[in-house]
Amino acid sequence: MEVKTSLLDNMIGVGDMVLLEPLSEDSFLENLRNRFDHNEIYTYIGSVVISVNPYRSLPIFTPEKVEEYRNRNFYELSPHIYALADEAYRSLRDQDKDQCILITGESGAGKTEASKLVMSYVAAVCGKGQEVNKVKEQLLQSNPVLEAFGNAKTVRNDNSSRFGKYMDIEFDFKGDPLGGVISNYLLEKSRVVKQPRGERNFHIFYQLLSGASEDTLKKLKLGRDFSKYNYLSLDSATVNGLDDAANFRTVRNAMQIVGFMEDEVQSVLELVAAVLKLGNIEFKPESRCNGFDESRVKDKNDLKEMCELLGIEQSVLERAFSYRTVEAKMEKVSTTLNVAQAYYARDALAKNLYSRLFSWLVTRINESIKVAKTRHKVMGVLDIYGFEIFEDNSFEQFIINYCNEKLQQIFIELTLREEQEEYVREGIEWTNIEYFNNAIICDLIENNQNGILAMLDEECLRPGTVTDDTFLDKLNTVCAEHQHFESRLSKNSKFLTDHSLPHSCFRIQHYAGKVLYRVEGFVDKNNDLLYRDLSQAMYKANHSLIKQLFPEGNPAKVNLKRPPTAGFQFKASVGTLMRNLQTKNPNYIRCIKPNDKKAAHIFTESLVRHQVRYLGLMENVRVRRAGYAFRQPYEPCLERYKMLCKQTWPHWRGPAREGVEVLMADLQVPAEELSYGRSKIFIRNPRTLFFLEERRRQCLQDLATLIQKIYRGWKCRTQFLLLKKSQVVVAAWYRRFAQQKKYQKIKSATIMVQSFTRGWKARKLLRELKYQKRCEEAVTTIAAFWHGTQVITRRGPARHRPLGTGLSCHTVLILRVCVQMQKYFLGLKKNMPSMSPIDKNWPARPYLFLDGAHRELRRIFHHWRCKKYRSQFTEEKKAVYEEKLEASEIFKDKKALYPSSVSQPFKGDYLEISKNPKYQKLHSAVDEKVLLADVVNKINRANGKGAARIFLLTKNSFVLADQKTGQVKASVPLPDLTSVSVSTQSDGFFALKLKEVREPRTARAVMSSVSGATAIRG
Ligand SMILES: Nc1ncnc2c1ncn2[C@@H]1O[C@H](COP(=O)(O)OP(=O)(O)OP(=O)(O)O)[C@@H](O)[C@H]1O
Ligand SMILES: [Mg+2]
Repeated sequence: MEVKTSLLDNMIGVGDMVLLEPLSEDSFLENLRNRFDHNEIYTYIGSVVISVNPYRSLPIFTPEKVEEYRNRNFYELSPHIYALADEAYRSLRDQDKDQCILITGESGAGKTEASKLVMSYVAAVCGKGQEVNKVKEQLLQSNPVLEAFGNAKTVRNDNSSRFGKYMDIEFDFKGDPLGGVISNYLLEKSRVVKQPRGERNFHIFYQLLSGASEDTLKKLKLGRDFSKYNYLSLDSATVNGLDDAANFRTVRNAMQIVGFMEDEVQSVLELVAAVLKLGNIEFKPESRCNGFDESRVKDKNDLKEMCELLGIEQSVLERAFSYRTVEAKMEKVSTTLNVAQAYYARDALAKNLYSRLFSWLVTRINESIKVAKTRHKVMGVLDIYGFEIFEDNSFEQFIINYCNEKLQQIFIELTLREEQEEYVREGIEWTNIEYFNNAIICDLIENNQNGILAMLDEECLRPGTVTDDTFLDKLNTVCAEHQHFESRLSKNSKFLTDHSLPHSCFRIQHYAGKVLYRVEGFVDKNNDLLYRDLSQAMYKANHSLIKQLFPEGNPAKVNLKRPPTAGFQFKASVGTLMRNLQTKNPNYIRCIKPNDKKAAHIFTESLVRHQVRYLGLMENVRVRRAGYAFRQPYEPCLERYKMLCKQTWPHWRGPAREGVEVLMADLQVPAEELSYGRSKIFIRNPRTLFFLEERRRQCLQDLATLIQKIYRGWKCRTQFLLLKKSQVVVAAWYRRFAQQKKYQKIKSATIMVQSFTRGWKARKLLRELKYQKRCEEAVTTIAAFWHGTQVITRRGPARHRPLGTGLSCHTVLILRVCVQMQKYFLGLKKNMPSMSPIDKNWPARPYLFLDGAHRELRRIFHHWRCKKYRSQFTEEKKAVYEEKLEASEIFKDKKALYPSSVSQPFKGDYLEISKNPKYQKLHSAVDEKVLLADVVNKINRANGKGAARIFLLTKNSFVLADQKTGQVKASVPLPDLTSVSVSTQSDGFFALKLKEVREPRTARAVMSSVSGATAIRG
């Protein structure tokens, strides 16, 4: 969370009185007032918290504030009770130091509220969980129960604690609350029967009457009207801002949470009702024959109802209010009680009943919250009644103020004297600060020989007539010389004329001021006697709780010894408390009451000045300023901060003090901030400590990071090595596997190659062998054939054996075929025909079975011969043959003349026109190349006579010209020619059919070729 304020930032006045300049009582008060006016009710004196009661609710106790102060250094934020609670809780949790929170101040200064704030803060910041939350709730809910039964409205405080409370909260090693123990100190039981003007009885009476249902009230035989009950004062029966009815419900709920059973709650309420009923019992005198008055119960209705409530036999109780039995050794003497004594007995019973009920409640709560006996961390919270100065101060105020003296003393012990003595012990240069040590007042009260309490006990136990006056006389004698004791009749004649000091009073100069005590009732209250008849009557009750509360009423356990006096008991319990507190680390909250009006915004300077004085706050500041904020033995100091310096980290080998010196020098802490004692280092300023703590915190973070880093590195490295090792193993195994696989593959391949090779070799060998064998057999067969009958086998010649003897038929057949084929091929070779393609000769087929092969050979040979023949042709010859081929396709088998023309080469230009000068003219008339030039006879269709003509054929036309002259007779373009016809006979005629034109003359020309071969190209 963001730091919003610190002790130095945005501070109203000065947050820590140690920093106040100039320091005087006035500036101190001014600072307090200034802060109070700005709602800053908390101020520090070092580690002590001063709390000024605001008398109104301020928004500084919210859950957000709790979070803000959680785990923060004490001086880091503005002063708050939460800072002290946090510091105490963390020291308890982290450093295992038992803590006690000492809350002091006068009545109404805010001690109870402060204790509740501390408890609620601790409950908020400690651990959570079902069991822990239950314990927390029980601890917190014990407060409303105890407040209802132990608090009352006084003139100073509407919710004044009329008992002292010390609560040890026990924590486990994690700092989670486990439970606790509550000790209660001297309930102001006189209040049960009588309240000063303007005050009330204990809250529970009013709460019960206002809040209980009609049904409950009926069961308890009560009515709602307060005025019906003598023990309830009427002038302030209702208090502004106090809702008794609602509080009753809260108390019942709290009792349930703490663990009270329903019948227990009922018993408790019955007892409360019984006390109210008891108060209503009145007595009247009844004259006896011996002249003494004897008391009688006036109206027995209340007595009856009370007896019904508690299950007591009415007559027994009635008798106990009229007679008193005194036992001395074996004798029992019964004396009558007069009315005054009966009232005394009644009130004593009511007070005892109530105070014992209260103690039972505390015990019962303790039973619920107790923890098994093992060593725990403990935080004690002390909320004890504050110093009281009333108009009329009695035994209770004396006791209460004695307790406050003791608390002041422990404060002086632990803060002022102890601090100064420590400086001297440690050899630190120190100018003594004067302060008032109240040990002398404590001694006046508690000294075993001549202390006031010892004198009172002595008087109470002394035989003879003992009155309050005899007690005062004794004090006047014994304490007269004491400088803090004042009495009108003391031997010390100083006060003889002091009219402010009545004769029946004595005055003590307490640390908090002078208090005048009226001795009336001291002896009685100290004796705290309850007539045995009453306790026995209570014991006889048919009510389990009442029976428990009065064990001394058991006739079987009659104890003639006097019970310890109230003063003695209180002194003993205060002594135990002080010893307990001294074993713990103290945390102080000093509460200040700003005004007497219980009003907000009012700061009565004189009242506060008085409290500042008697609380010794100025001395506290002076000692604090002159002294050192922090001290610690060298060893733990070095241990705590050694990581801040290279020389001391991780180990310092020399003496711890030198180590601390090196450390502080290295950190450049100014010399004036430190003092080196014999066994401890003293740090003057809290900020220096804070600086060290901050550096340590940072350094711890760095160290934690380093540890994490090294650990992570180690972890990764270990893992890496493991992986590497595993990888090597895996790789080795894999390589082995791969090699095995490869080897297997190569091996099987090799085997296969080998087997193939071997197979091939074997087959080759087999073939060779077979061939060899066949050759041998062939040779044998041939030889056999050769020799006619003989066959040679491998086993040797077998003479005179017929052909085939020794061989299978099949083999013989094959051999025969082989021989025949050999013969055939050799014969064919000898009789091969000529290479002429037209040679039709081919040797005759020797064997029928070779018919197919013979024909095929002939065909192959012919093709081969043709190919050979063709391959010797030149291009020109090829062209000639192509023409011949074309002529063959046209004329072959269609013209009788054709076969004779085949052997004649086709010339085309038979007339050799270009060479013959005779045809020069003709030649020039035809532009194109002449394809055919020959002399033809043109047949005249009219007379059938022929006329010799020259026939010229070009690519585009044909020309007829006079043979003699060479003159062109006709030139016909080839497109005009529709067909050429020849006869099938062996003649040279051919007819040209021309397209039909207008002149019919040239429609057809029949010509006869002179050469006969000219017209038909072969
Ligand atoms: N921090 C606070 N905030 C608001 N009101 C407070 C605070 N402290 C005390 N008060 C008011 O002052 C009244 C008296 O306080 P509290 O009962 O704590 O006094 P006390 O010191 O315990 O007195 P006593 O010695 O009589 O028991 C409370 O009832 C409450 O009204
Ligand atoms: Mg209180």
